[in-house]
Amino acid sequence: MRVTISRKAHFNAAHRLFRKDWSDAQNISVFGKCSNPHYHGHNYELIAHITGEIDPETGYVMDMKVLKDLIKEKIEDEFDHKNLNEEVPEFIDLIPTAENMAVVIYQKLIPHLNDKHDLSVTLYETPRNYVTFSG
Ligand code: NI
Repeated sequence: MRVTISRKAHFNAAHRLFRKDWSDAQNISVFGKCSNPHYHGHNYELIAHITGEIDPETGYVMDMKVLKDLIKEKIEDEFDHKNLNEEVPEFIDLIPTAENMAVVIYQKLIPHLNDKHDLSVTLYETPRNYVTFSG
């Protein structure tokens, strides 16, 4: 039986959505307030979903403590209270939209999971706006 377990995490980060090769006016017309040259923050909520078989020995799909520590080390410690555009290497040349962030988070977590597990990442940028990437 394949079961999905989920772990929620939280971080605050600042970003600016813009393209260096576009004018300020073009950036503002496409990205709106998220293109503010002075940056702005979001309270991001991350949910990592792991799907796999229940281990008959432990009754777990995956030890939640291991998942918690993995998210803390690979995502929260890297992103929390950071300016994503300037301080997080993945976003130096990649616009830190929620879409791109979900892909980056997936790529940072997947190498550390059992290869029999499927990962899906849901990232809330606001309580009403969220994206999901499942590989
Ligand atoms: Ni924004």
